[in-house]
Amino acid sequence: MSPVLIAQDLARHYQVSRGPFAETATVKALDGVSFTLEKGKTLAVVGESGCGKSTLARLVTMIEPPTQGSLIIDGQEIVGATPATMRTLRPRVQIVFQNPYNSLNPRQKIGKALEEPLLVNTTLSAAQRTEKARAMMAAVGLRPEHYDRYPHMFSGGQRQRIAIARALMLDPEILVLDEPVSALDISIQAQVLNLIADLQQQHNLAYLFISHDLSVVRHIADEVMVMYLGRAVEKAPRDVLFGNPQHPYTQALLSATPRPDPEKKRQRIVLKGELPSPINPPPGCTFHPRCPLAYDTCRVLNPALLPHGGAEVACHVVNPPAGSASAA
Ligand SMILES: Nc1ncnc2c1ncn2[C@@H]1O[C@H](COP(=O)(O)OP(=O)(O)OP(=O)(O)O)[C@@H](O)[C@H]1O
Ligand SMILES: [Mg+2]
Repeated sequence: MSPVLIAQDLARHYQVSRGPFAETATVKALDGVSFTLEKGKTLAVVGESGCGKSTLARLVTMIEPPTQGSLIIDGQEIVGATPATMRTLRPRVQIVFQNPYNSLNPRQKIGKALEEPLLVNTTLSAAQRTEKARAMMAAVGLRPEHYDRYPHMFSGGQRQRIAIARALMLDPEILVLDEPVSALDISIQAQVLNLIADLQQQHNLAYLFISHDLSVVRHIADEVMVMYLGRAVEKAPRDVLFGNPQHPYTQALLSATPRPDPEKKRQRIVLKGELPSPINPPPGCTFHPRCPLAYDTCRVLNPALLPHGGAEVACHVVNPPAGSASAA
């Protein structure tokens, strides 16, 4: 099967001012990430706040260009692409944000909000636009009378259904979901996750599903990419990652997640310190100051993402470089 999206060594660096008398600094929000998205499949991206998840979402949805790397959507390279190519590619990748309230116009009725992308991007008649909006409302579990209501008249779960409906109006191939259920109550989370899963099947959508919470992606992901400070530290098929997490960071994240099987208790691994700043990341493996298994090599050499045990892992303990003496 050919991928609908290929990202290679994607990076996004920002220049930030550190005050009137200081030189500008570089924030490496995303620092060389590679992955592919397949039709009908979900790649979940997980990691702590600030690790670069939303930055990745902005690159994939072409809101911002990458500083470095290649992004191929539907066989077309977007880096250096003409405005005409970008115009044809943009509708194919849509995004759903954590808080849909911010992306909905409070003065616009829901029906009209759904029709707007069709008005801007297609030649459909007013009647056709309304028909499509009503069909999409039904598909996401909204009722016909909701067509004439305003955003404030909906609950959080319903608003997220509206945001999903709006993202699907142009029949995209790829949906980026940036923390789509993080703001919802647990009971509503499950309903919205089920809807997201059903829509993927019906429309054969490729999902880039972003979450800080491994327990949320457990049921929806086909593949999981764990990020730390702008880089992927482990990438694996879902069952491999949850069954045999190899990177110490993945193990720590997973140990903090409730388990479906409480019989098999896992020792909670508490990480030392906080996520370092991407302005001045630690040398070597950026995780080493917090890693319980770090040894000499980790303090000087940044590990590459290498295959191991059915996954890809960026860790000198898992994949010791030739000649290094691992403490583990
Ligand atoms: N426009 C920008 N200018 C400067 N720094 C930025 C910019 N956008 C993001 N950053 C920095 O890049 C890093 C990654 O940010 P990003 O929003 O991608 O993280 P995230 O993983 O989505 O976090 P969260 O889970 O809190 O949403 C952060 O340190 C952030 O401060
Ligand atoms: Mg974010």
